[in-house]
Amino acid sequence: MSYLALARKYRPQTFSEVLSQDFITSTLQNAINMGRVTHAYLFTGPRGVGKTSTARIFAKALNCQNPVQAAPCGECDNCLEITGGTSLDVIEIDGASNRGVEEIRSLREAVKFVPVKSKYKIIIVDEVHMLTEQAFNALLKTLEEPPEYVIFIFATTDQHKIPVTILSRCQRYEFKKISYEEMNSNLKSILGKENIEYENDALNYIIRNSDGCMRDALSLLDQVIAYGGGKITLENTSYLLGITDSYLSNDIFSAILKEETEKLPDLVKTVDEKGIDYKYMTECLIEHCRNMMIYVVSNKLPGSDFTSREEEYYSSLKAYAEKAKLYSLFQILTKLINDLKYSDFARYVFEFAVIKAANISSIINILDNSSPVAASVKKAVSAPVNKVTESAAIPVKQEPAREETVKPEISEKIADTAKEVEKDTEPVPVLKGSEEGIWTRVLNIASSKNPMIYAMLQHAKLIEDTAEHLAISFPLERKFQFTQLKTGNSKDIFENIVFMVSEKHTKIDITLDNNIGDSKKKADIDEGAEKKSPDLKGNVSTAESTGTSVKRVQSHKIESFAVQKMKEEVKDNEFLKMAEKELGGRIINIEKN
Ligand SMILES: Nc1ncnc2c1ncn2[C@@H]1O[C@H](COP(=O)(O)OP(=O)(O)OP(=O)(O)O)[C@@H](O)[C@H]1O
Ligand SMILES: [Mg+2]
Ligand SMILES: [Zn+2]
Repeated sequence: MSYLALARKYRPQTFSEVLSQDFITSTLQNAINMGRVTHAYLFTGPRGVGKTSTARIFAKALNCQNPVQAAPCGECDNCLEITGGTSLDVIEIDGASNRGVEEIRSLREAVKFVPVKSKYKIIIVDEVHMLTEQAFNALLKTLEEPPEYVIFIFATTDQHKIPVTILSRCQRYEFKKISYEEMNSNLKSILGKENIEYENDALNYIIRNSDGCMRDALSLLDQVIAYGGGKITLENTSYLLGITDSYLSNDIFSAILKEETEKLPDLVKTVDEKGIDYKYMTECLIEHCRNMMIYVVSNKLPGSDFTSREEEYYSSLKAYAEKAKLYSLFQILTKLINDLKYSDFARYVFEFAVIKAANISSIINILDNSSPVAASVKKAVSAPVNKVTESAAIPVKQEPAREETVKPEISEKIADTAKEVEKDTEPVPVLKGSEEGIWTRVLNIASSKNPMIYAMLQHAKLIEDTAEHLAISFPLERKFQFTQLKTGNSKDIFENIVFMVSEKHTKIDITLDNNIGDSKKKADIDEGAEKKSPDLKGNVSTAESTGTSVKRVQSHKIESFAVQKMKEEVKDNEFLKMAEKELGGRIINIEKN
């Protein structure tokens, strides 16, 4: 006799053999017992979970000559014929290959003849969603008023494609994926009957790969048995299911968490040489990230279908997996999936992303979760404001000693100008976020973890502040900070901070305040601001005294005017020229901080 695939050999023949669908099988049995069988059923659910099998068992139960409590005997002529597919009273058609109106018309004709030797004429239409619109229409009539002896059982994996007119005429049953426990015990019992040895880890691996579909699990089992010469080991299962790819993703994920950047180029090279799809590899890394997070927060893996080797793997990485790091990693990887869609340089995009991921801690110094954030914010906000800042080439700011050597008259002048600027502009302390918002916490983290980002954010105006949407805007003269925050590392760091705080994908909008349009318009406004400055100054001082914030647009106008004034004054300043010479750099910008 030719070999019968396990999935067919072990097709459930009774209601009790159908796993994970107890609710459905008992309802169907009750309906028979109570004589409340309706004329149309629709079985929906994922592939390979027992829809067709249940339809056949139900048909047997309905037509069995000796049913036992609504269960088919499995031995009478009718039962045997239905099992063997030869019953004249049970018509099984495949909707995928009989989709047209003609087929449905002939079905309608067939329905007109009473059952040959059973109580019911049962029509099972598999993959019913494949029928054409006309076919559905043709079916509708029969469904409306079928002969008493007719029962339709439709099965589909895609109930959304079925017209509501049909849906509303059927009793619907939703089949579930098979649970790990039921699948595990079913596979073990089948292997026992087949006398085949197996390793538990191998079964777990097969179960996970079949995603709740019993047919897939049994087909995989068939393949592994054939490949392993009758033995099911993790080794041959791994090989057959392409687990070598997953070893590679294990290595990449572990190199990222352990920050072993030096290992990554070789690993990426292997990915390339094996021709593994980068998107697929990224998906594997995302799954690792998710499993790791669940392991960190709950001390167990998400599901029982993990092999003991996988448990060891995640537990060995736990020490390197801080939650904040995983948040950031998750974000980098989900962004990578998107980047890969639009890039012609998949390898480089992937390589950069994983290297960046391995450097998360240094990009954003998040390892110390317990740092007294509040204290550092306080310190940052109350720190003395430097009057003159400069390009990175001349870090005068970091060298207070130099300020002391400033000639008294010049330093006085600068101080005066700066004082004026300070008086003219809004105070630096940053806008407070709303209570339900995330902005204040974002600033807290930024101030303690990344002063540079914090400094940029100080110039932003808060527009919307919720965990769903954070919108900030920069005034035109802060285009530099705006551009910085929108690009490169700063952007990633800022997004990471927001993600850490909100713990969700907050929509972030960073805009440049274009109220002040082109330079001409800007000059006009500056001029206007100059004229109106006493008035506006008044506003500012009121705001300062009451502690409320003034409309920033106004203060930006003043600030830009004041800064320009200051720049004019210090342009030919001897001291600054001297400072440039001594420090071997060039002052390219002076701003009020
Ligand atoms: N609930 C279940 N209990 C036990 N075995 C099952 C179950 N579901 C599926 N199987 C196994 O998978 C095989 C296929 O099942 P079946 O044809 O009933 O699935 P289906 O839901 O109709 O799938 P499809 O949507 O792909 O047609 C069966 O022969 C059986 O071996
Ligand atoms: Mg089916
Ligand atoms: Zn029977």
